[in-house]
Amino acid sequence: MTSKLNKIGVLTSGGDSPGMNAAVRAVVRSAEFHNIHCYGIYKGFEGLISDEIKKLNARSVKNIVNKGGTILKSARCLEFRTKEGRLKAKNNLDKYGINSLVVIGGNGSLLGGKIFEEEHGVKVVGIPGTIDNDLAGTRSTLGYDTALNTAVDAIDKIRDTAISHNRLFFIEVMGKGSGHIALNAGIGAGAEEVLIPEKNMGIDRLLKSLKHSEQSGKSSSIIVVSEGDKIGDNVFEFSSYIEKNFPHYETRVSILGHIQRGGSPSCFDRVLASRMGVFAVDCLLENKSKVMVGIIGDQIITVPIDDALKGGQEIDKDLVRVCDIISI
Ligand code: F6P
Repeated sequence: MTSKLNKIGVLTSGGDSPGMNAAVRAVVRSAEFHNIHCYGIYKGFEGLISDEIKKLNARSVKNIVNKGGTILKSARCLEFRTKEGRLKAKNNLDKYGINSLVVIGGNGSLLGGKIFEEEHGVKVVGIPGTIDNDLAGTRSTLGYDTALNTAVDAIDKIRDTAISHNRLFFIEVMGKGSGHIALNAGIGAGAEEVLIPEKNMGIDRLLKSLKHSEQSGKSSSIIVVSEGDKIGDNVFEFSSYIEKNFPHYETRVSILGHIQRGGSPSCFDRVLASRMGVFAVDCLLENKSKVMVGIIGDQIITVPIDDALKGGQEIDKDLVRVCDIISI
């Protein structure tokens, strides 16, 4: 592998996700392995604009493979959406002589990186870092597996109360407009119902299904609701509507929220992050850019960022069927 590449930057952007640190570590160490200088850019694109850029080496990223969050900090940067902001960012990168970036983040961050490359010629390779799993071209984004495990663990605990008190629990999970977390955590935790934006169940079908559960002897139920689901205005309204129809059940709402974004990454996410980080540097060495690194099957691949941003990742219909069958 030969190349004139001798400096790269790495940043984490958008919502943090478990595994981002492991990916930063892999990028920094892989760069050092190939005798490339690596610069950490702090607070995502915001740090590119405000010149928060620091040289890193293999030891700067010690003891972080197991840590949640991101040592580089993260932000959602409005200024980078403007031409003026991106010009400031380019001028700062020029000061350091950096012309290649690894951007670790979700769809907004990858879109930002792509526009930056098109406008200023800075080579960008993306690593999908988001718990939402809403990028096409990869079966798993960084942090998704950990978030699923966190959600399942939380739902298991809530189930203890649901059973003890004969309650109907509505548990809202994250995922923005995508139902991957809800569907998989719902199956994993044995939920009675899973409501996702990709499949509009309709309130009447839900009522019918809950009636059926009651008649079949269920005394409590867990309904996992993806935050992007559109059935009700919000999960609280939804819950009180259901309570009116099931007066002998008490309903409760639990919003899992940001606990799903934090915590030590799972082994799967650590390994995925390490492989993606090394591969991202390989891409830059091979002069490949405007691509996102992904995993298909067990193979690390690249996909043009444009394709990764097209329509997210489809919900597996077979999984929806499994969920419907096993929750009767
Ligand atoms: O994209 C990750 C995510 O956690 C989504 O699931 C959620 O909708 C959003 O970020 C929350 O963002 P914030 O932390 O800015 O409130």
